[in-house]
Amino acid sequence: MLKNKDLLGIRELSKNEILYIIDNAKKYYHNNKITTKKKVLNNFTQINLFFENSTRTQVSFEIAGTLLGASVVNFPINNSSQSKGETLIDLAATLNSMTPDILVIRHPNSGAVQLISEKVICPVINAGDGNHEHPTQALLDILTIKKRIGRIEDLNIAICGDITHSRVARSNIFCHRKLGNKIRVIGPKTLIPKDIDKLGVQVFYNMVDGLRNIDVVMVLRLQKERMDGGYFSSEREYFHLYGLDDRKMKYAKASAIIMHPGPMNRGVEIDGDLADNIDKSVITMQVEAGLAIRMSVLELLLKKKIDNV
Ligand code: NCD
Repeated sequence: MLKNKDLLGIRELSKNEILYIIDNAKKYYHNNKITTKKKVLNNFTQINLFFENSTRTQVSFEIAGTLLGASVVNFPINNSSQSKGETLIDLAATLNSMTPDILVIRHPNSGAVQLISEKVICPVINAGDGNHEHPTQALLDILTIKKRIGRIEDLNIAICGDITHSRVARSNIFCHRKLGNKIRVIGPKTLIPKDIDKLGVQVFYNMVDGLRNIDVVMVLRLQKERMDGGYFSSEREYFHLYGLDDRKMKYAKASAIIMHPGPMNRGVEIDGDLADNIDKSVITMQVEAGLAIRMSVLELLLKKKIDNV
C-alpha cells in the first residue's frame, strides 16, 4: 500500500514504496494489452490537467488510464475559465464537485499541484510542477535502468546540464539517494544551484572529470522557458563544453548507458547520432517504461477503491 493519498514527489516516498511501484509496473511493461483484460479502473474517471506543454507525459497518462479502463478526460486549459481569471483553488473546488477518481496535473509553478491536492478528495499525481518534482519520470528512469543494467543499486549516476531548472534532476536525486546510489551533477556554474550538495550529490563543472567511472549518464535539456536571463553564452559553446558526444562518453564506463527525459535538442545537450545509438542510448526504452510506470501508479493510488468495488 502507498501511505499517502497523492503522488506529489519522490521525496515523500520510502524506498519500499519506490520498489513496490517498480515491481508492480513490471506486469505492464511490453505487456499492457494482455494484462489489462481485467480493467481495474473500469467506471473510474481520470482528469488530466496540463497547464504546461507536454508530449510524452500527457499522452502516456492518457493511454495508461485508457488501457486500465478509466474514462480519461483531458481538461482543455486554453478554453477554460482559467483564462478568465479563476483562481486555482476555485478550479480545484469545481473539479472536486465533479467527483473524479484521480487527477493528473502539470503546472509551471512549484507547489501548485500540492495546493490543488489539498482541496480535492481524490488522489492527485504530480506530472511535473515548476522546477520542483516530476516523480513518474524518476520512477520510469529506475525501471529503465533495472531492465537494461539488471540492478538499481550500487550505481554511479551522472546528471548533466541544466540542473537549476530541472524537476527531473531533483526527483532523480531524491530517488537515487534513497536507493543508496552515488550521484554527481555536472554542468556550468550558472546552471547548478549553489546549495545542491546539501541533497547529497557531488558537483563537477566539467564533463571529463564528472563522467569518470559512471554507469548511467542522464542528459537534460536547457530549459529556456524557465530561464530569466543569460545562463550560457551560446548553444555552440555549450555543446562543445557540455554536450554529450562520443569524445566525452569515453570517460564513462564502457558499459555506461545514456538517458534523456525528452524533449531533446540534438546538437545542443546531446549529439544526434549518439542519441540514436541503441547500444548506449535507452531513450526510447524510457518512453516504454513510462507507460508501465503510469499504469502502476494509477492502479496503486486507487488500490483501496479498486478492492472495495
Ligand atoms: C521533462 C519535463 O517536462 O520536466 N520532460 C518530460 O516530462 N519528459 C523535461 C524537459 O522538459 O526538459
